[in-house]
Amino acid sequence: MTDQKLTTTQTGTPIANDEHSLTVGANGPTVLHDRYLVEKLAAFNRERTPERNPHAKGGGAFGEFVVTEDVSKYTRAAVFQPGAKSETLIRFSTVAGEQGSPDTWRDVRGFSLRFYTTEGNLDIVGNNTPTFFIRDGIKFPDFIHSQKRLADSGLRDADMQWDFWTLSPESAHQVTYLMGDRGLPASWREVNGYGSHTYQWINAEGEKFWVKYHFMSQQGVKNISGEEADALAGTDADFHRRDLFNAIAEGNFPSWDVYVQIMSNEDAKTYRINPFDLTKTWPKADYPRIKVGTFTLNRNPENFFAEIEQAAFSPGNQVPGTGISPDKMLMARVFSYPDAQRYRIGTNYNQLPVNQPHATEANNYMHQGNMQYHFPSAAQRVYHPNSFGAAGGPAADAQAGVEGNFESDGELMRTAYTLREDDGDFGQAGILYRDVYSADEKARFHATLGGQAQSITIDEIRERFFQYWTNVDANLGQILRDQYAAN
Ligand code: HEM
Repeated sequence: MTDQKLTTTQTGTPIANDEHSLTVGANGPTVLHDRYLVEKLAAFNRERTPERNPHAKGGGAFGEFVVTEDVSKYTRAAVFQPGAKSETLIRFSTVAGEQGSPDTWRDVRGFSLRFYTTEGNLDIVGNNTPTFFIRDGIKFPDFIHSQKRLADSGLRDADMQWDFWTLSPESAHQVTYLMGDRGLPASWREVNGYGSHTYQWINAEGEKFWVKYHFMSQQGVKNISGEEADALAGTDADFHRRDLFNAIAEGNFPSWDVYVQIMSNEDAKTYRINPFDLTKTWPKADYPRIKVGTFTLNRNPENFFAEIEQAAFSPGNQVPGTGISPDKMLMARVFSYPDAQRYRIGTNYNQLPVNQPHATEANNYMHQGNMQYHFPSAAQRVYHPNSFGAAGGPAADAQAGVEGNFESDGELMRTAYTLREDDGDFGQAGILYRDVYSADEKARFHATLGGQAQSITIDEIRERFFQYWTNVDANLGQILRDQYAAN
């Protein structure tokens, strides 16, 4: 007991008692000048930051990424050079549920990966599916509203979900994943991750490539049945969070192999599928996976709130040698995440220990704002250009800060992507159903969709539901109609 620290106020003054407030006599009124009581209650009232909208419920851990192969002909990024090692942070999540919602509700799983590199933080904020529900960021708030809760009852609602999906046929591929086994992972350790979007890589010669990231679980992919998921949702809402934390605490460190698919600039111009359409995958027969390295999660957070809740990932966090692409979703996300985090966490969220670069420093001429923590030496000027050389502050360097870029048509317009030969909304969804799902997976998929059909209460939406799946595969549509249309 003797070396136990003293309890103090937030400003370091020792306090006398943590159990009794200051009162007039033992039974009289509490006084306002009990500054420790006031400080303690006020701190409590401010414990929550707004939860993420979406992806509120999640968990995460730290680890290490090691490059085992040589992909230097595709990227100059230090993090991907042979033998490079980087600290990593991962956060897994569900999309629609709130902070306390069950981990095992059917949903896509978020797979946010940060590499603390010597050239700044690189974030790949992906999912456990390689595609997405929509292909233009302007639809994202509508999509998320349809997955969350009704304005009057505060309930989630199948009519609203299927109304949006069936009126947004580009969702078919992702909904086929979601209603399949992948919608119910056994654990976060047993999911694959995907950057989903097409990103850019740039090599030392300035040559550019389009790239998709794939993170393949060394634990394998394992899913659970609807019955198991429902039971767990009722008995252990934190099942996935608990599983990851306990596994790491026991030294059972999960690993993922990092792969990329690479497309040349030339190919991208004429490939039969728009390579920037997030609702599509690049078939592996055309663009095989190329291994880069492996990351392993080996360290739990010491403080969940400080290190996971306040983690602020952004697809805009790219490094020299990587970049974004002309994917309309990705460009919207580059704006959206930092904007959400300035609101959710605060102006200087990137100065928090989990968000600041760990393998390099942040130096620039931005300053002040709520909660400024880091500040440069008094000699540094607060403006650029200045005449004080190195003491006056940092200097930009075109060679060090090489940025991704791409050509565009130039004219401003609001319109869909130009369609290519194989850009239909239902084609890849049909292939996933027919050619990838086994007979057992198909049977479970039919049962899941049957349950969904039965939870739709509006006839017009139910009819569109059958048509949507008929468009994916005529036989599938017929099976669903035969079994569930009458109910
Ligand atoms: C234009 C479309 C999108 C917009 C506007 C958007 C917006 C957001 C916002 C505002 C957050 C909360 C961020 C925070 O408070 O820290 C978020 C979280 C997240 N989003 Fe998106 N999102 C979009 C598309 C996507 C896509 C396509 C993916 C996956 C491929 C994705 C994966 C995630 C993940 C994994 C998180 C949780 C991040 C974390 O772990 O902290 N989102 N999104």
